[in-house]
Amino acid sequence: MPMEGLEVTACERCPDLCESRSRIVNGVGPADADLVFVGEAPGANEDEQGEPFVGRSGTVLDDALRDVGLARADVRITNCVRCRPPENRDPTNAELDNCREYLETELRRLDPELVVTLGKVPSEHLLDRSVAVTSEAGEVFDARVGDATYRLLVCVHPAATLYDRSQEETFTDAIEAAAELAGVGDADGGQSRLGDY
Ligand code: URA
Repeated sequence: MPMEGLEVTACERCPDLCESRSRIVNGVGPADADLVFVGEAPGANEDEQGEPFVGRSGTVLDDALRDVGLARADVRITNCVRCRPPENRDPTNAELDNCREYLETELRRLDPELVVTLGKVPSEHLLDRSVAVTSEAGEVFDARVGDATYRLLVCVHPAATLYDRSQEETFTDAIEAAAELAGVGDADGGQSRLGDY
């Protein structure tokens, strides 16, 4: 597998995505993060800048993190699929499957306290069932990913708050619950806050 540390350096598994991407967009954030956010796939901004969640969705996520005392640099942010799908379509099941090994490896190496899935695609991919994201947001489940089990909190996608204001509270409540579950601010070595100042 062409993976160095937590980074996929070369991959040709998905013919469409090899055409549509400018680059592979790997996860960012500390390799020992307690809190890992998993999105769907890079969009245009992410493809251009080579970093997940740097467009408008990223601003929503960054703001919500800041409101619970976390900086972007305190958490890991990654995607189910590392290459931008054409015209921002959803990744296909085959593409999700092709990229799964990378996500499994990333999660196994991080061994986080909590995985937060941002939206329907990552929630269904990691829970392996259909998910009603709005009604299940903030709930925690055990997710079997590869040969490990993680605590997983379902969250609406940050972009949903841009299209539907009524999702804002659902989103921020879930981020608050995630910070609490990952032990933000714990004196006993939980996730640190704001890049340790
Ligand atoms: N949406 C996602 O699911 N992932 C990104 O990286 C950006 C937007």
